[in-house]
Amino acid sequence: MRALLALFIGVHVYGAATFITKEEYAASLYHNPRGIGCQMCHGESGEGRRIAQYKHKGEKKIFEGKPINKIPFSLFYHAVNSKIVGMPRYYLTDTEIQTLYYYLHREEFKRAAAKRRKSH
Ligand code: HEC
Repeated sequence: MRALLALFIGVHVYGAATFITKEEYAASLYHNPRGIGCQMCHGESGEGRRIAQYKHKGEKKIFEGKPINKIPFSLFYHAVNSKIVGMPRYYLTDTEIQTLYYYLHREEFKRAAAKRRKSH
């Protein structure tokens, strides 16, 4: 996990000539990833969200977007690159997927970075 954190904090997702912060870029990508925003199905912070509840052949069915803010990066990466029933296919780049993961874990990353700064 430590190595992973270092990897993410080290990632430069924008060039020197951009005027938005990493936070703003990550937030905008989460809400507008060249398709339906992730928050529509997974909630504002990736906490998961019930999309619909209906009855099928008398049975109660629930359609929901799972929580995605507590899963390891490997699972997140694999899932976003796969065909998932009920989820649009996005064809995101590796940097975009890393940015989305950063967005969902930004507080943890910031805390880890602050801790590292302190210990130097
Ligand atoms: C239209 C609804 C919808 C949207 C929009 C959507 N998803 Fe999903 N997503 C789903 C559904 C449904 C699943 C499968 C849930 C299940 O298996 O129970 C899923 C599964 C996932 C999983 C796998 C979770 C796990 O534990 O296996 C990840 C990661 C994920 N989505 C990330 C994203 C990201 C990132 C975005 C935005 C780029 C996004 N999703 C947008 C509906 C959506």
